[in-house]
Amino acid sequence: MDEYVKLIYKEKTYEFPVIIGSEGEKAIDISQLLKETGLTTVDPGFANTSSCISAITYIDDEKGILRYRGIPIEQLAEQSSFVETAYLLINGKLPTQNELTSFSVMLNDQSLVHEDMQFFFQKFPRSSPPMGILSSMVTALRSFYPELQTIEEEINRTVTRLLSKVRTLAAMSYKFSRGHKVVYPRQDLSYCANFLNMMFHSPVRSYKIDEDIVKSLNAFWVLHADHEQNCSTSTVRMVGSGRANLYASISAGIAALWSPLHGGANQAVIEMLSGLREQGGKVSQLIERAKDKNDPFRLMGFGHRVYKTYDPRAKIMKKIGDQILKKLSATDPLLDLAVELETVALNDDYFIDHNLYPNFDFYSGIVLRAIGIPTNMFTVMFAIGRLPGWIAQWKEGFDNPKWKLSRPRQVYIGPSETRYIPIADR
Ligand code: SDX
Repeated sequence: MDEYVKLIYKEKTYEFPVIIGSEGEKAIDISQLLKETGLTTVDPGFANTSSCISAITYIDDEKGILRYRGIPIEQLAEQSSFVETAYLLINGKLPTQNELTSFSVMLNDQSLVHEDMQFFFQKFPRSSPPMGILSSMVTALRSFYPELQTIEEEINRTVTRLLSKVRTLAAMSYKFSRGHKVVYPRQDLSYCANFLNMMFHSPVRSYKIDEDIVKSLNAFWVLHADHEQNCSTSTVRMVGSGRANLYASISAGIAALWSPLHGGANQAVIEMLSGLREQGGKVSQLIERAKDKNDPFRLMGFGHRVYKTYDPRAKIMKKIGDQILKKLSATDPLLDLAVELETVALNDDYFIDHNLYPNFDFYSGIVLRAIGIPTNMFTVMFAIGRLPGWIAQWKEGFDNPKWKLSRPRQVYIGPSETRYIPIADR
């Protein structure tokens, strides 16, 4: 039976339909609100607003459920690969063996970047932030690959080009930052193994591919691959709604992910824990600062706009961290500190009352440190992982002939009409 909500305004009653999602979540369709009532809505941060109708990713914020195209994240992290999950998100189904093979071949064929792009790297200062380099280089890809995106095969070629080249560009930025020779992708290596080799191989020290580390990196990127309408994905959709090309839309998403409250949190967690350890501080100090309303400090890696329970990805991320450290017979004092901090926070009334649990950024830095990724590249690792989700979300809009230009309204509280005063009279 159709559901409606009634709005009574100035003695007039309006009815607006309720849209019901495939998992039962409900939303009021207010697409006719302004036209019928002259009213708009105000929702800072869009915490109460669904920006679109999507079939890609489902989150249950109370039960801590996350599914890509209906498949639980736990199964994908355990059994799938990042390339296969990327195919699933972008194409809406798991690939057959033939489809996966041809997708992997396309990724391999696209893994080199135009040699002239190296000149850009040479001109960036060595200390340039990797996220700034990545966003710039993704925009620059459009200059080197100007094909139109109006036909299906061009879209698929652009998609695999981005998925493959963003990984290569990330590794190149690391090599240039250290003044080291760029390592080229190899045909005999998988997507993740190629990235690790491009990052850590050098002419004087071969990088030994460890299949367990490769498996962990696959799971790490599977966990990052999509997360419905988060800040950076909403940015990609916003830019794409103007029919901007995919490179420009993705570059905007990278810029949005660069923010400390969003994609920059994985780096901020490690800096927070490292700072505490170096100062010989106590976990209780961080907890007290996080609770102090007069202190702008936030416990990085804690809290989430959507999850009001444990982020399902955080549990898996911690397991990956434990597995890698065990495999390497290594320990990480920051992991011990993180576990202690989590235990104290989860038993503290402030965190309980505010539904503040670890999100997946809380443990992702431990995984990246164990793999050997430098801290300033943590958010780049997030961007590589989120790329399939951004592409899938952009494509979902692009394939919809009714995709509307995103243009929110506002409530104006500035001055009423005033007269211009010539400078001589001011
Ligand atoms: C990601 O959206 C996604 O899906 C994102 C993401 C993805 O996969 O794309 O999951 C990735 O961005 C994860 C989040 C990473 N960020 C952090 O770890 C940064 C620390 N977390 C917070 O800044 C915060 O929790 C947010 C930004 C993540 C969410 O905050 P909201 O939903 O905007 O909530 P809010 O800022 O209005 O806070 C509500 C209350 C406030 O207290 P009151 O004023 O109501 O008393 O909770 C408090 C806040 O002070 N609070 C925190 C806190 N987070 C919220 N207090 C201390 N430490 C924190 N981390």
